[in-house]
Amino acid sequence: MDIAQIYDQFVADHFDEDHFQIYQDARNLALEQIRARIPGGKLGILDLGMGTGEWLLKLGQNFPEAECHGVELSQKMIEQAQRKFAEQKRTVRIFHEDANHFGRHIGSEAMDLITVHFVLNYIDRKRVIAEAFRSVKPGGLFSVASSTHESFSVLHDLAKQFLPAEEIKAQFLIPEDLGELEDDLRNAGFRVAEGVVFRKAVRFEDFDHFYHFAMHSGWLADPIFLKHMSHEQLGMLREFGKTLFPLEDHFQAAIVLAERPK
Ligand SMILES: C[S@@+](CC[C@H](N)C(=O)[O-])C[C@H]1O[C@@H](n2cnc3c(N)ncnc32)[C@H](O)[C@@H]1O
Repeated sequence: MDIAQIYDQFVADHFDEDHFQIYQDARNLALEQIRARIPGGKLGILDLGMGTGEWLLKLGQNFPEAECHGVELSQKMIEQAQRKFAEQKRTVRIFHEDANHFGRHIGSEAMDLITVHFVLNYIDRKRVIAEAFRSVKPGGLFSVASSTHESFSVLHDLAKQFLPAEEIKAQFLIPEDLGELEDDLRNAGFRVAEGVVFRKAVRFEDFDHFYHFAMHSGWLADPIFLKHMSHEQLGMLREFGKTLFPLEDHFQAAIVLAERPK
């Protein structure tokens, strides 16, 4: 099952539940960084992996004259976004496309602001950063938010009891930490204007709370391993889990605003 199918089938109907308000808080931080540098005006904005459109709506509210564009692979996520754009009378040009290939639709030096939030796990990071450098105007901005390998360390330690550490790590193509993401941006020619570490405590009350999060939030890689468990296996896991919950862990992300030098 590919990532678009996973988002179509498991995540799209639940995405805006925004467990633990991770997205809401991260978006506010990214917006603060952008607002400190862009006062307003008729901007060209492109969001890669726009999901259900929450971030583009927020940008539209803050920059009402902006022309917004979104790239997204999951048809169901696009439908959720289109419904909200229509309700809020917001015009967004949507490309149903793999973000790795957004350059097929966007010219060189075309955008004032490109954003990619919580999508790096699914794309060729270096390629997309290079494409963003090409597509943003000189002096334009690139906002990147990504979870890092510092996230969910308690869950990862638990998973290591069942799977080799390398196998778990290989499922997450995200940066190690803020420093690695900033290095990737600098290597592509960007100047890092601001980078922050965003950390959020999470607490799973019981196994079913965790199961819902794992299946529907999109945060924990591929939920198929849970989906394919037999009723009996799930029962065993729930029984084993009784001793683990409530389980406290933390989410950690890097939120960076980069600028293409003039
Ligand atoms: C974790 S969600 C983030 C959504 C949105 N950026 C936000 O912050 O609210 C990841 C999104 O990226 C989309 N996605 C995954 N791989 C993609 C790809 N290769 N190209 C475009 N979108 C992709 C998923 O369908 C999903 O909507």
